[in-house]
Amino acid sequence: MINILFFVCCLVTRSASQRVDGMHNKLQEDFELERQLKIINKPPVKSIQRKPSNQKTIENPNLRNSPSKPKFGLEKPCPKGTVPIRRTTKNNLVQAKSLLDNQILAQQDPTYRTHVAGVFVVPFGNFNGVNGTSSVWQPIVEKDQSSAALTWVQNGPINALNEIAAGWHVAPQLYNGDVGTHLFAQWTVDTFQNTGCYNVLCSGYIQTDHSYYLCGRLLKTSEHNNIIEFQVGITQDPDTKSWWLNVENTNIGYFPTELFTNLALYAKQVGWGGRTTHAGIPSPPMGSGVFPDMDTRGASYFRWVSFKNGTRYYDTPDYLTKAFTDNDDCYRAKFYGYEKNNIGSILQFGGLGGKCDN
Ligand SMILES: *[C@@H]1O[C@H](CO)[C@@H](O)[C@H](O)[C@H]1NC(C)=O
Ligand SMILES: *[C@@H]1O[C@H](CO)[C@@H](O)[C@H](O)[C@H]1NC(C)=O
Repeated sequence: MINILFFVCCLVTRSASQRVDGMHNKLQEDFELERQLKIINKPPVKSIQRKPSNQKTIENPNLRNSPSKPKFGLEKPCPKGTVPIRRTTKNNLVQAKSLLDNQILAQQDPTYRTHVAGVFVVPFGNFNGVNGTSSVWQPIVEKDQSSAALTWVQNGPINALNEIAAGWHVAPQLYNGDVGTHLFAQWTVDTFQNTGCYNVLCSGYIQTDHSYYLCGRLLKTSEHNNIIEFQVGITQDPDTKSWWLNVENTNIGYFPTELFTNLALYAKQVGWGGRTTHAGIPSPPMGSGVFPDMDTRGASYFRWVSFKNGTRYYDTPDYLTKAFTDNDDCYRAKFYGYEKNNIGSILQFGGLGGKCDN
């Protein structure tokens, strides 16, 4: 029941940006959901039923198949001129809203919590891109929880934070209870209060690639002796100022610059790490569930971490980074700097979770 999801191929359209407004009563909310569904579910060109097994999956970059093959479990590529979009149901929207609410309520309501651990680049200039290669895991997450590994670009004050984040996560609320690992992105222009959403649950993100797509499930995740990685970056188009989502060295879609206020011209903060959300106790594992341990087969990592200032790429020197966590007993992050043997600049993050809310 949980594994069958339906995808539709949609015409690539440049729909006007539309923000998802916060709603105050149930009726209005219902009406708003119907409206959003109409916007999101464009008429399908062709329906694809995703089967739960026998699918190609993303591989270690070194062993990768030809780049034209879809990597996230989509069985057939979409017809030319179309892109895969997951069909959204009303229930998806309700659940996604509650997941987003977890993040917002985290500040106000002690029953919903978000925890973070990661590394950010000290804000010293204007940033136009962030990039990294992450090891992919499948942390065990209950139905009211989520656990993500993500890279982000941000700008703005605490109440009007603009953010785009992307990476992999386990978030059963978003995928009909599926506890697999999915490619995801999210954005906001007001610290997740009223705008933005996960994936394509509101209009904003525009998919352009035929094979990689948001929501796509990564059917293979790391085990101790077999690390699966994927590259994810968010880079600003120098001409249009829109932010491209780059996965496995392919621009798969973009966030139009018009969506943003503070991020319209550049970012002031970029970083990499983990984020968990949960209602009640305990808090789920982050990453592979272990603290940074200097072992690429142990704690989850981002390597080849770099960021862009103007036209220059920085290979993230130590002195420009800062590791952070909101609860050292639960989750930690550490930047190791440049490691030889073709590893690049690497950081690790994660932890087992548990009772993390004190
Ligand atoms: C991201 O990093 C990878 C690995 O270093 C590199 O191959 C790729 O070109 C970078 N992509 C972008 C958009 O900077
Ligand atoms: C790059 O960073 C410098 C600070 O070192 C900043 O003054 C400058 O505006 C940035 N360049 C661009 C094009 O964002």
